[in-house]
Amino acid sequence: MTAGTGLSRLEGREKVMGAARYAYEHPVEDALYVWPVAATVGSGTVVEVDAAAALADPAVVTVLDHTNAPRLRPAQIADQLVLQSPAVAWRGQIVAGVVATTPEAAREGAEQVVVRYAERPHHVVLDPADPALELPGELFGGQPGSFAKGDVDAGLAAADVVLDRVYTTPAQHHNPMETVATTAWWSGERLVVHDSNQGPWIAAVGFGQLWDIPPEQVEVVTEHVGGGFGAKVRPTPGAVLATMAARVTGRPCKLMLTRQHMFTMSPGRSATRSRFRLGARRDGTLTAVDHDALQYSSPIHEFVEQTGLATRTMYATDNLRIIHRLARLNLPTPRVMRAPGHTPGMFALESAMDELAYALDLDPLALRLANEPAVDPASGEPFAGRHLVDCLTVGADRFGWAARDPTPGVRRHGRWLFGTGLAASVYPAYQRVATATARAEPDGSFSVSVGAVDIGTGARTALWQLATDLLGSPVEIHIGRSSYGNAPVAGGSSGTASWGGAVRNACTALRERLAGHGGAVPADGLEVTAESTPLPPGRSRHSFGAHFCAVRVDADTGQVRVDRLLGVFAHGRPLNARTAHSQLIGGMVMGVSMALHEQTVVDPRLGMFVNHDLAQYHVATNADIHGLEAHSLERPDDDITLVGGKGIGELGIVGAAAAVANAVHHATGVRVRDLPITLERLRGG
Ligand code: MOS
Repeated sequence: MTAGTGLSRLEGREKVMGAARYAYEHPVEDALYVWPVAATVGSGTVVEVDAAAALADPAVVTVLDHTNAPRLRPAQIADQLVLQSPAVAWRGQIVAGVVATTPEAAREGAEQVVVRYAERPHHVVLDPADPALELPGELFGGQPGSFAKGDVDAGLAAADVVLDRVYTTPAQHHNPMETVATTAWWSGERLVVHDSNQGPWIAAVGFGQLWDIPPEQVEVVTEHVGGGFGAKVRPTPGAVLATMAARVTGRPCKLMLTRQHMFTMSPGRSATRSRFRLGARRDGTLTAVDHDALQYSSPIHEFVEQTGLATRTMYATDNLRIIHRLARLNLPTPRVMRAPGHTPGMFALESAMDELAYALDLDPLALRLANEPAVDPASGEPFAGRHLVDCLTVGADRFGWAARDPTPGVRRHGRWLFGTGLAASVYPAYQRVATATARAEPDGSFSVSVGAVDIGTGARTALWQLATDLLGSPVEIHIGRSSYGNAPVAGGSSGTASWGGAVRNACTALRERLAGHGGAVPADGLEVTAESTPLPPGRSRHSFGAHFCAVRVDADTGQVRVDRLLGVFAHGRPLNARTAHSQLIGGMVMGVSMALHEQTVVDPRLGMFVNHDLAQYHVATNADIHGLEAHSLERPDDDITLVGGKGIGELGIVGAAAAVANAVHHATGVRVRDLPITLERLRGG
């Protein structure tokens, strides 16, 4: 048995030695380099692209703009329609691309291109007073959006205590270590793309749609990826530009975005504003939950951060209303990022629950236990393994919660104020359709291929463990190619569950075929391709968790230090205990980072993100991280997926920022409802 054990990553040595090859490094002959030119107005139309100065450099091969770029087929995601129109929807959008024999010449050429615009006024501030589209009950991808049951107003009227508060989270950016990177070439009508993305098959479908060719005519290779977090779920404009340059020049073209490009040519997370109205009786029973969530999208595509989605699942109430509104801003289209919807939504809900506990003079833990639902509050479906109460009580025990004096702002030693807080976590357990192929050779060896991708999670290793156990001897595992067949992205914490289901079915079927041959493999080998089995409907499937946080706050400066963050999680059986633990810890680090540091600041005059590099977009560093502990409850959930476990990737971040904010309130008596918790917000300045 190797599954479940903490095997080190198979490619770990290759990565540490610098031998692992990433998309931009793929060696090609006669390569050209592509540099994007970014719009310098927040809204308007390109009137003229003057490339004469750039083209004067013999190293510059061509300059693409909307007048001479190849035509693409209209796509579902308008962001991918690079250079198809002169319209500028946000500052930083790609308006031209310089192709040259060296990256330096391409970059210099991009500086030389002069773009003239007819500028229009831009609007970049999320303001609840502005008109916003109220969304219907069903949104993209079949995910539920707005929702209502019972009578929220009657529930609030029947409450002993009503809490009415607004919580906000700023725009945020993924910032994977490896930026968007592509090496692309055409061989006849066949497109080959070595690309940094979260799913080679989905990328092949995307490129195929844009170029009007079937996905089988596109080979996307994604061997190693230096992080994604949602930034690389679909082909990015930069990757599309590289395929266009390759088409026009007939040569392999390479593009790698700079860190600064990543803030406008790659998506981020929408800012969110959640108004919560909670009604409760004295004993803590919720009589109404009303969540009105506002987020933004760009002028060219409707992407909706699902801020209210977690509110459907968390607490029992007869009267529940969730509204999603969408404003249009001249900012890059946001996309999914690090537990989309749940991360900002649970910051708001779990902060509001903490405030409600204080308003009722109840322990925040007791308030949550008092509202534990028997079935999913929105769908009415039974839960497939809801272990929130276990996470909360085991966490409280490990953390020492029982000894807590709830009084805020009274524990002071020297200049430091001390406090503790808790918050729950939840993330849906998805499983999507995938295909895998298992092969037996006459020499007794096995290989398994699946269009999975390892974006740093350890998926390759986990799938190897699964296949090796099923086939009874170490297999060769192949991932990261679209030609391995239909496979979902590494996203929604569903990758390993989905690919694993297909690997399980393929290996099981191969074993049966082998048995049919009396265990002997024919001279040309045996090969089985199988799909994953869909999950039966009718159950509410989620992972759960609970965070307990201890902070100290400098009474003079407002500096916050997280001394301890303890998480207890129930996610079924992990395929690899070590990488699962790393995923949970990684999520918690992102939670601390979100609570204290991360924000992309918008300048309303220039219509741009001001802090578009890692010097100014702050993320938690090692010095910010202390005392993180992630504990997993052993609760197998065989109902959930064919590999016996739920997704882990995003569970660790959800709720973590609320645990920090609640602890900061306990330490100081100051309730910060707008992330991040900066010094000035804490000092009331
Ligand atoms: Mo992740 S935000 O599901 O790619």
